[in-house]
Amino acid sequence: MAAQQPKVSLTGIKPTGEPHLGNYIGAIRPSLELTSAYESIYFVADYHALTSVRSREELASYTRSVAATWLVLGLDPTSTIFYRQSDVPEIFELTWVLSCVTGKGLMNRAHAYKAARDRNAEAGVPDLDAGINMGLFNYPILMAVDILIMNADVVPVGQDQSQHVEYAADIAGSFNHLFGDVFSLKIPEVVLPAGSSAKVLPGIDGRKMSKSYRNTIPLFAPEKQLRKLVRGIVSDSTPLADPKDPDSSAAFVLLENFATPETIKEMRGRLEQGGTGWGEVKNALFETLNDWLSPLRERYTELIAPDSELDGILAAGAERARDRARPVLAGVRRAIGISHL
Ligand code: ADP
Ligand code: TRP
Repeated sequence: MAAQQPKVSLTGIKPTGEPHLGNYIGAIRPSLELTSAYESIYFVADYHALTSVRSREELASYTRSVAATWLVLGLDPTSTIFYRQSDVPEIFELTWVLSCVTGKGLMNRAHAYKAARDRNAEAGVPDLDAGINMGLFNYPILMAVDILIMNADVVPVGQDQSQHVEYAADIAGSFNHLFGDVFSLKIPEVVLPAGSSAKVLPGIDGRKMSKSYRNTIPLFAPEKQLRKLVRGIVSDSTPLADPKDPDSSAAFVLLENFATPETIKEMRGRLEQGGTGWGEVKNALFETLNDWLSPLRERYTELIAPDSELDGILAAGAERARDRARPVLAGVRRAIGISHL
């Protein structure tokens, strides 16, 4: 019997800002955990970021930050295929082909596009499509290609991306229906981070930590800035002597995600008892984060520097990604009549 192919885990992160603690807990850590049981294919979705990033310096620097962050936090580029989406031209050719078999109605119903229209409606803008580019509209097709061209089995993503993963199967089905079974009939499965509802990290203002709210704690902020950001986390003004509800505090929720069980238990007990202020929670959080991240900061700084080793790592990853993508695209070209080879 032929040896079973290992199942493939695939995900992409958009370089739209400095990666933050929420990205680590919700996306990077769960994806890294899957690498022991799956063949892993992880990439920087730089062309997806182009739907919103409008500065060449930012796109270039966030791309390096995201790639360096994965590597510093434990991605092994010899065992994981790790690349920049834009280095794999086969993806963009297949995007056109699949655009030609995807109903416009499916894209009309995509959450990101609908949300953008809803924002216009709320703001009273008469043209609901104002300010929406075709990249945002076509976004799910490019994402379907990311998934299908690598023949992924599981896709670790946040809840907000599940619909896009489901679209990949719909789009593959439309193609197969018209041109024969070129794409495998498996349905890529969304993998949400364990206990995902509990794992939405709050930002420094208490809302969900998100680049769009400008309330993030970047993983590799310099020590001074890290201290300042942690100090700035919102807290209520319960007097120091009073008992406190630890779960009401963004600083405590963050601490719970990074500290040892002993530290968490001890801090919870002290807060509930009274006599401990939020300042102490913030100190403990800063120490915990800094102890973890400061040994990694130097390596991160080396990797984001121009012409670092990062470029060679991504170039080697792109070759491996293209080796997988080429036969898939060749099968598609044959099926549609573009190529007889
Ligand atoms: P942002 O909201 O900062 O723009 P993205 O939408 O680029 O982040 O998310 C990248 C990944 O990080 C997604 O898988 C998302 O689910 C995860 N993620 C983002 N923010 C958080 C958070 N606050 N808590 C948990 N996971 C998060
Ligand atoms: N759209 C994803 C996000 O916004 C990023 C992404 C692009 C992706 N292509 C992908 C995730 C393929 C999983 C699989 O977070």
